[in-house]
Amino acid sequence: MHRNALRRLAPACLAAAAALAIGGGASAQTAAGGKIKVGFMLPYTGTYAALGNAIENGFKLYVQEQGGKLGGREIEYFKVDDESDPAKAPENAAKLIKRDQVDVVVGTVHSGVQMGLVKVAKENNTLLIIPNAGVDEATGPLCGANIFRSSFSNWQPGYAMGHVLAERGLKKVVTLTWKYAAGEQSVKGFKEAFESKGGKVVKEMSLPFPNVEFQALITEVAALKPDAVFVFFAGGGAVKFVKDWAAAGLKDKIPLYASGFLTDGTLEAQGAAAQGLETTLHYADGLGSARDKTFRLAYAKTFKLQPDVYAVQGYDAAQMLSAGTGAVKGDMSRKAELYKAIEAARIDSPRGAFTLSKAHNPVQDFYLRKVDGRENKVSGVAVKSLADPGRGCRL
Ligand code: PHB
Repeated sequence: MHRNALRRLAPACLAAAAALAIGGGASAQTAAGGKIKVGFMLPYTGTYAALGNAIENGFKLYVQEQGGKLGGREIEYFKVDDESDPAKAPENAAKLIKRDQVDVVVGTVHSGVQMGLVKVAKENNTLLIIPNAGVDEATGPLCGANIFRSSFSNWQPGYAMGHVLAERGLKKVVTLTWKYAAGEQSVKGFKEAFESKGGKVVKEMSLPFPNVEFQALITEVAALKPDAVFVFFAGGGAVKFVKDWAAAGLKDKIPLYASGFLTDGTLEAQGAAAQGLETTLHYADGLGSARDKTFRLAYAKTFKLQPDVYAVQGYDAAQMLSAGTGAVKGDMSRKAELYKAIEAARIDSPRGAFTLSKAHNPVQDFYLRKVDGRENKVSGVAVKSLADPGRGCRL
């Protein structure tokens, strides 16, 4: 045999021996080298398509910055468009976990789809990093050793805005959202803070996701003459809502507040209709830290786009994976150690450094932001180090 061929064979033999030593099977292959398989389960079509793309971009940027490797191993990407359709979630999750045998799933955006994905990831003990969807259950009753989130719980930004409006002395607020977990749980968080400090949610209104026929609801809100309105909309639907609200002539009549998704990644399309809107979120423009500036420059240069909260969440999902893979030196079969390392990580995020709660959700500052031109300019911290209560999680 040629010497070079021998040299090529030797590592394979060593790998096989290592595989036998740790019990063989698929996990042994993972341990033996090759690429780490990352599966993106994200919306690439529909009202949340831009969010899915920003998450993927952010994730890939961090990996690129590490020379394309995490834990000493190259990354191979797989992707599935989940279409923000909860009915297809189990099948889409199985495509990545069963068919492609990925080491980690990064997904998803929509809270309803997330419920199905969490279930399949738990059944298979596959590492799952949630780069957006806030569904409270994922870091609540459905929490798991292998389930992590780089984003927020639906409760968190709502709670932050409820706190701000109560402090401002507002009394009577109407809420308006899409009727699914993200909207409903944002309102719950909002209500919890707002009503505990003396405010009252006088009416909760909603329409099915992803409908954008807002007209009748907007007319109804105006007739109620509340002190303010609190809404949850995001992506393409948020663009339409903000424009419809202004077109109805309510922009300077009834104060409109929201979780920051209403104006993140959307300002170019919303234009004048969004100016002056105040929101709460775990990211903002103009934070001014060196970490954030470097990230923003690199993102803009790589993708010819301004980063938004979704890009940050994708970037941080990669940082969380990196903390895990680094600790196990790329051996994804050492699951208990992998999970422990992610759990204990301090993530140096562009939003500001954060750690994870016991239930694996970021403990982070919520900023108050105000739209100015194409930016959600930070105007202060609404709530510092806000931790989701993680109700019902036993870990
Ligand atoms: C969600 O469904 O959890 C969700 C979707 C889009 C957002 C935020 C939350 O911007």
